[in-house]
Amino acid sequence: MKIIRTKNYEEMSFEAAKIMAAQMVLKPQSVLGLATGSTPIGMYEQLVKWNKEGKLDFSQIRSVNLDEYCGLDGENDQSYRYFMNHHLFNHVNIDINNTHVPNGKAVDTKAECERYDALIESLGGTDIQVLGIGPDGHIGFNEPDAVFTKSTHRVELDPSTVEANARFFASIDDVPRFALTMGMGGIMSAKKILLMANGTKKKEILEKALFGPITPEIPASILQLHPDVTVICCVEND
Ligand code: F6R
Repeated sequence: MKIIRTKNYEEMSFEAAKIMAAQMVLKPQSVLGLATGSTPIGMYEQLVKWNKEGKLDFSQIRSVNLDEYCGLDGENDQSYRYFMNHHLFNHVNIDINNTHVPNGKAVDTKAECERYDALIESLGGTDIQVLGIGPDGHIGFNEPDAVFTKSTHRVELDPSTVEANARFFASIDDVPRFALTMGMGGIMSAKKILLMANGTKKKEILEKALFGPITPEIPASILQLHPDVTVICCVEND
């Protein structure tokens, strides 16, 4: 595991963007595993900038996102599909048909989860998976549990996750209580993992995840078992 500590959010975003850009230059048809949330926004901004400057090509890139809220469609501005279109896909030369987010409106969620795992497999897995970390140690929406779940699945969000994500909604009552998330199998099958963490609120959970026991109670602790993880963090200040 490689840990890069940065001075601030801007530097964290720039370091992460450099790693993503290197992956894309070395393999123009890379499969990128992408995350939403506030942490990767600066990294996406940098990737958009390089694309606009003609330095980075997305034309052959494929992407799979980690998760989506149940009940929200891509037109809903709180959905993760909307987030990805808004922060990245609409601003770069990616073929939108090559971008994948779980379908939060699927009626048969089990079938949707199976479809998503089959899709990831058909793409040959992800070349690099971007992750943030939740206040309870979740990655994707894999919440603390008695066991690690391997496949894409429907999950009930932990109250701390609902509370943390309420900042994006008009009120906490509007935060969906369920989500579809890639499981640990999909995340851990990535060839490389890039975990980002920003802000003092993430310091304690990040330390537990990286240096504590490997346990499904701290879902991100499973990353200690992955052979190629880069952590870029700025958790000493806000
Ligand atoms: C987002 C995701 C989540 C976030 C995590 C941190 O797709 O899967 O695990 O990465 O909740 O969120 P922020 O970055 O908003 O602190």
